[in-house]
Amino acid sequence: MTSSDFLQRLPKIELHLHIEGTLSPSLRWRLAQKNNIKLAYDSEEALAASYKTMYNHRKKKDGDILDPNGTPIPVFLDMYYGGMECLITESDFYDLAMEYFTKAASMNVRYCEPFFDIQGHTRRGVPVATVMSGLQRAREDAATKLNVKSNWTMCFLRDMSPESAMENYEAALPYRAVFHAIGLDSDEYDRPPSLFEDVFLRARKDGFKITSHCDVGQKDTHEHIHHVVTSMGGTGADRLDHGLNAAERPELIEAIKSRDLGMTLCPHAYHRRLSTEWVFSNVRKLFDAGIKITVNSDDPAYMHDMWVSENLALAQEHCPFTEKEMLQLQRNAVSICWADDAFKETFR
Ligand code: ADE
Ligand code: ZN
Repeated sequence: MTSSDFLQRLPKIELHLHIEGTLSPSLRWRLAQKNNIKLAYDSEEALAASYKTMYNHRKKKDGDILDPNGTPIPVFLDMYYGGMECLITESDFYDLAMEYFTKAASMNVRYCEPFFDIQGHTRRGVPVATVMSGLQRAREDAATKLNVKSNWTMCFLRDMSPESAMENYEAALPYRAVFHAIGLDSDEYDRPPSLFEDVFLRARKDGFKITSHCDVGQKDTHEHIHHVVTSMGGTGADRLDHGLNAAERPELIEAIKSRDLGMTLCPHAYHRRLSTEWVFSNVRKLFDAGIKITVNSDDPAYMHDMWVSENLALAQEHCPFTEKEMLQLQRNAVSICWADDAFKETFR
């Protein structure tokens, strides 16, 4: 069996994917036409080209670490939030999610826990109900028609205020059946996760799982990781999204291990801006330390169409991982995912 046959056959779980980061140029173009939204591009081809050239822009902010050659997250985020403007109606959210779930099925992804950014929509005047209804309908159809099961994680934008996070949390609570977890994403610059403690404490008390991004190479990232691992929501988050810089600090490795905390890594998201050696030696280090790392895609539409399969292939090649170790990555995903136990059993 070739390595690509092996990867294709592997039943997969994806735990770090922003649904808005899967918006293809073709769907964006179609929705913009339908909703009479004027794009800054004259044709679908020009729009598609803009997805490819985005990382030619380079800028670094004071205090960012390990980001010598790359595009800072905010440039990517401008593009990502720009894409959202075509998402207006319930069926737009349904189509967005179904496009991803269909792609997931083709990669043999059997279960996923995608993020959605509620504030990215409510701040544009889209009602919470519209977002929730479209995502939930897609979740149900993906399970029955595509055999892709999922649970949604609602993220807060950390460059918005903690008050806005709480307001959106409360507005979303009537739809609590739609999401099972709360996360934190967007621009981390001078936005420590501790700013959002009230809403994470509340969400944990209300029975949600909690998680947070600590993206690679960001200012103060070691402090942010420390907070997320040890204190978020009172006793530390239930998972760590990214957090690769933990590999640089033995005490962080120890703290993650001592809580048996899972990590959702997205190799291409780092590799596109950092050296192969730095990225994969640190992925390997966390794996060898016995931490339950997983491999995921982040925002594949905006990151050179590198979906979970391509990210797994990248890790397999550069870490490098044997097939046995690749199976261990999937076992890690089964272990750290928040599917119910009966469903987890179907992976064993
Ligand atoms: N929101 C969507 N994608 C993100 C990323 N890669 N980093 C931070 N926030 C995000
Ligand atoms: Zn992410």
